[in-house]
Amino acid sequence: MVWDRLIREELEGLVPYAPGLRVSQVRERSGKAEILKLSSNEHPSGPVPLAVEAMTAVLTRLNRYPDGGAVALRRKLADRLNVAFEQVAVGNGSNELIRLLAQVVLRPGDEVVYAWPSFVVYPMVTNILNAAHVRVPLDAADAHDLEAMADAITDKTRIVFLCNPNNPTGSIVRRAAFERFLDRVPEDVLLVIDEAYFEFVTDLEFPDGLHYFDGERPLVVARTFSKMYSLAGLRVGYAIAPEPIVRAVDTCREPFNVNTVAQVGAYYAMDDTAEVVRRRDENQEQRRLLCEAFDRLGVGWVPSETNFVYAKTERPVEVFQALLEEGVIVRDFGNAPALRVGIGTPPQTARTIEAFEAVVARLGSV
Ligand SMILES: Cc1ncc(COP(=O)(O)O)c(C=O)c1O
Repeated sequence: MVWDRLIREELEGLVPYAPGLRVSQVRERSGKAEILKLSSNEHPSGPVPLAVEAMTAVLTRLNRYPDGGAVALRRKLADRLNVAFEQVAVGNGSNELIRLLAQVVLRPGDEVVYAWPSFVVYPMVTNILNAAHVRVPLDAADAHDLEAMADAITDKTRIVFLCNPNNPTGSIVRRAAFERFLDRVPEDVLLVIDEAYFEFVTDLEFPDGLHYFDGERPLVVARTFSKMYSLAGLRVGYAIAPEPIVRAVDTCREPFNVNTVAQVGAYYAMDDTAEVVRRRDENQEQRRLLCEAFDRLGVGWVPSETNFVYAKTERPVEVFQALLEEGVIVRDFGNAPALRVGIGTPPQTARTIEAFEAVVARLGSV
């Protein structure tokens, strides 16, 4: 068949990223008018007004291409984060940057070390570059097993992905363990610290990846405007990386990979620092209330530093379906004994708790 000759054989058997259910699908199935989507770790509020105004103002100028160098945004990030302009890369979501980093480093057969379960894009980029997966299971507490990850590094390892906090479990790696790990990562391995949920973290023992960035060792910190800054639909993320890595990424990326609206939205979203603090506090409180309810209902959960909670259940398929009937969409992982539940606004948390109460009443223990 012609397609077999045309399409690279490594792609055979791979499946596309499966997004969560859409609100319209669930509305139809459940018959509920108001659907609560807690499946994609999105922020429940829209972008801050400053960003919305700036983005609206730029719409009339979309006949022009974006600034291909995203100079204003990168300059602002560099100033904020106290790194050089040349050490900042921006991407169409941090997702694109994760792929670009893999693209500039991996050769077929190279090994990629990452924890599992973790962010699904790590295996995806490993697959498309025909590299080898070295998956290290999370420990008994559903957190990264850094000793085991360090043990898994070989001469063939080129990238280690460290998702901190981890998606889907919300767990973090703490400073002492991280520093021991860092000492064990060889100088010729790219350590990519994915901090997509950085702004939600309150644990004082959290090791800010940027603190370990010196522009010399191959360490990259990736963050995003999709979560705390409510710009998931816009697609903009950034990576702080040594200059040679940023230069290599520049050679592989699309010339205009971050669109004009995204550059402007991210630029202004950063300014409302008071709102970030307010959101962090509110998220922490709503997460506490949700976990308290889980305790009452006999649902297990993993301590989270993010805007989602990994809820443990022996009946994930039934609980997932029963929640859908309540009009609440969470993230399932097939038969894995857990569901990921996003944190919403205070009224949304109340509704999430009511939905879980109804499900437990219906199914008995979960
Ligand atoms: C751990 C982690 N990294 C990266 C991303 C990618 O985010 P984006 O491409 O929207 O910046 C996500 C999104 O869910 C994530 O959970």
